[in-house]
Amino acid sequence: MTSNKPPIDIFKPFLSLKKTYKGGITKAELASEGGKIYKLSSNENIFGASPMAIEAIKNNLGALNEYPDRTDQRLRDQLHVFYKEELSPGHFIGGPSGSEVLDMTIRAFMDHDLECIVSTPFFLPYQMFSRWQNAKIIDVPMDPDDYSIDADGLLAAITDKTRLLFLTSPNNPTGTYIPKATLDKIVYNVPDHVVIVMDEVYFHFADAPDFSTALPYVKEGRKIIALNSFSKAFGLASMRIGYAYTTPEISAYIRQIAKPFLINRLSLEAAIAALKDEAFLKMTRDTIIEERKWLYQQLDLLGIQYWKSQANFILIQPPIADNLFAEAMLKRGVMVRPSANFGSPGNIRVTIGDREANEAYISAIKSCVTD
Ligand SMILES: Cc1ncc(COP(=O)(O)O)c(C=O)c1O
Repeated sequence: MTSNKPPIDIFKPFLSLKKTYKGGITKAELASEGGKIYKLSSNENIFGASPMAIEAIKNNLGALNEYPDRTDQRLRDQLHVFYKEELSPGHFIGGPSGSEVLDMTIRAFMDHDLECIVSTPFFLPYQMFSRWQNAKIIDVPMDPDDYSIDADGLLAAITDKTRLLFLTSPNNPTGTYIPKATLDKIVYNVPDHVVIVMDEVYFHFADAPDFSTALPYVKEGRKIIALNSFSKAFGLASMRIGYAYTTPEISAYIRQIAKPFLINRLSLEAAIAALKDEAFLKMTRDTIIEERKWLYQQLDLLGIQYWKSQANFILIQPPIADNLFAEAMLKRGVMVRPSANFGSPGNIRVTIGDREANEAYISAIKSCVTD
């Protein structure tokens, strides 16, 4: 049958994205030519996962045929202990990765005709997931020199349609943080209809005296959702598990859209065990902070420009074009990540490893410059 009617487009126009976030490639995807690869491209934990989490996974392998817990309740109970009972289980939302909790948050708050605010350079899923809700994304870029946020600009960009304002501290890909005074200015001046999403997945690595998480604000009852992950300091990126904390009202609101059995058994047990493994967390944090200082010294000696970081990675300005640099480093066995897609063109984000990986990285830069 033929018809003169124009074809009906079955695809939603706002889902036809040109720019989408893919995440860094894995070692397995890399056509390796043999030799050791140091993966310093995805801000993972170079020390592996918490041994207690690994044990918990092994102990649960016999029950893969059974459904896991229906809800995130046991994870929230353990988070209550981890946060030294400063927050109640009702403050938390658990989910299969920080990204998934972010998506739940955006689905719960964004809609066509509503707006959210981001600051370039930022973690692209804020924009990607908001587009999936056909929402409008307003960008108030950071200062491109020091990557500080524009607090006045962010407040001025708020309209009656704004629902979410994204802040990231420490920020990906820059490693920079939002000082407490700047946070205060934003938190105490946003109107009541704006919820701040404070992405703090790298907070374990921060040591600046004026660094703050969202904890004091959430305890005061401010409308802030603090996004967290088990992928970084806890070393569980493969398990896809994360959480947020916010006011009990917002937490209960978002949890309404959690699907039954959302968190798989192994991830849930691994996360609960990892929260109890203080020694692994401390070793990870202390070593990364030490190695960060060592890397600053090495980069200074090489005359490479970088931004001081509060995270487990450092953004550098490579001595040659970013893509050529990433390729040259890969040939030398070091995977690094160009940050142009995040809105930081020409720069490269490099995860902090152990001393062996960091030495391999520094000697690879030296040989890129001299060869
Ligand atoms: C700033 C930031 N937020 C959130 C996430 C999400 O973490 P995940 O989905 O692995 O829990 C990441 C991961 O790289 C990140 O860098």
